Amino acid sequence: MTRRPESGPEPAVAPSVTGMRVLVTGGAGFIGSQVVEALLAHGHEPVVLDALLPSAHPAPPPPRPGERRIVADVRDRTAVDAALRGVHAVCHQAAMVGLGKDFADAPDYVGCNDLGTAVLLAAMAAAGVRKLVLAGSMVVYGEGRYSCARHGVVRPGPRAVAELDAGRFEPRCPDCGAELRPGMVGEDAPTDPRNVYAATKLTQEHLAASWARATGGRAVALRYHNVYGPGMPRDTPYAGVASFFRSALARGESPTVYEDGGQRRDFVHVRDVATANVVALEALPDRPAGALTAYNTGSGVPHTVGEMARTLAAACGGPAPVVTGEYRLGDVRHITASSHRIAEDLGWRAATGFAAGMTEFAREGMRAAPAG
Ligand SMILES: NC(=O)c1ccc[n+]([C@@H]2O[C@H](COP(=O)([O-])OP(=O)(O)OC[C@H]3O[C@@H](n4cnc5c(N)ncnc54)[C@H](O)[C@@H]3O)[C@@H](O)[C@H]2O)c1
Ligand SMILES: [Zn+2]
Repeated sequence: MTRRPESGPEPAVAPSVTGMRVLVTGGAGFIGSQVVEALLAHGHEPVVLDALLPSAHPAPPPPRPGERRIVADVRDRTAVDAALRGVHAVCHQAAMVGLGKDFADAPDYVGCNDLGTAVLLAAMAAAGVRKLVLAGSMVVYGEGRYSCARHGVVRPGPRAVAELDAGRFEPRCPDCGAELRPGMVGEDAPTDPRNVYAATKLTQEHLAASWARATGGRAVALRYHNVYGPGMPRDTPYAGVASFFRSALARGESPTVYEDGGQRRDFVHVRDVATANVVALEALPDRPAGALTAYNTGSGVPHTVGEMARTLAAACGGPAPVVTGEYRLGDVRHITASSHRIAEDLGWRAATGFAAGMTEFAREGMRAAPAG
């Protein structure tokens, strides 16, 4: 069956959730390519639009069998208009990721991530496409959630250099100076983007919410936690810490762990994130019209960076991690989100456990390591 593109107001009867044609921006990327796989596995028809940024793709990956790929920038309105033909929903993964090298990168981040999102949303508004899943990020929260035994939930300021130099890494209560207990951040926590990338990710959400209000569209932002798994970029300035550790192990070196290794994160497997995108796309007809709903998308089980380094080292049979006590100003100590809401509303839960996922990830890295 071919389906006409939606135009005008949302049909009264929600279309069947099978056989959607979905535009996946950034569909050649680490997460986007897994979203494409998951869409195919669920009987949908992905169309990829990706600029194949050199920073993300030292060597651009070939399209998967059956994949329709348009090589274009999301800021190219003509290309986006063409890509949207016959499309029922958009899964917007395209973005410049990571922290960049310095502030000079700011215009590129804002261009790709925010101007790009605005162009895409304007094209969707014109084409009558009313369904959007946006790749969000936990970085919009800044620091994690903390509580003091005496003062309850508090918001600690940035950690002082003198404290960090002395190896005291835990944030302290702004009222009494006591060490704080980390907790789980909910979606309603105040946002506090602390770098350009984080600011652009939050702006994407605001733009998508404005688009939903203006068009009656339905939008979900999946605020991913630290995503890892097959195809994770290696050795680029944008690679995550899991990838750095794995590259060190592949060279036969110890992974070097900053601070005392006690930083808590939530590592979520890329296949689980891909499934979350499909689940969200299929659930969009039941989401409120004219609004964006944000969902934390993590494994739900926090682990420390030190634990991750040890697990990867053991899986590779490599040398044990070295904890250096070094730190990077601006790193957050703990950030772990509660992924309850997405489980309640959409029925999604991560399926890949930490030990199994990290072991698979480590072994993939060893197999792909260059000889010598
Ligand atoms: N990797 C993580 O841990 C993580 C965590 C939170 C959020 N995210 C978000 O997930 C999404 C995917 O990230 P990823 O880790 O797969 O990164 P990635 O760099 O592997 O993929 C991003 C893709 O988008 C493309 N792209 C970038 N700018 C574009 C533009 N202007 N026009 C067209 N294509 C463009 C790139 O070529 C790349 O293929 C991003 O929106 C990112 O912000 C990732
Ligand atoms: Zn206190």
